[in-house]
Amino acid sequence: MIKVTYVAHDGTETTVEAEEGTSVMQAAVSHDVEGIVGECGGSMMCATCHCYVDRAWQDRATPRSEDETDMLEGAASEVTERSRLSCQIKLDKSLDGLVVHLPEEQL
Ligand code: FES
Repeated sequence: MIKVTYVAHDGTETTVEAEEGTSVMQAAVSHDVEGIVGECGGSMMCATCHCYVDRAWQDRATPRSEDETDMLEGAASEVTERSRLSCQIKLDKSLDGLVVHLPEEQL
């Protein structure tokens, strides 16, 4: 199992464990983590799974794709160089302990 910690906009931290191969969005939704909506179910059509990868993990997560960058233009909160669509980050052992921060709003 891979651990992921979600830091809400107010600083509340929630840590969950998910199977390898699960996306950061799926792990949040299946554990009722507030702050990730995942409206389109992971097909990169909604940008309601926006998250900011913690600086310490930035180099370990796969780089953001061009399509992801385009979709993030529709995100409800500010987009930064650490912004990702959490449905596009698949969990593997190298991401065990991953920390992501959640935006103020998703819709
Ligand atoms: S869940 Fe819709 S873009 Fe990620």
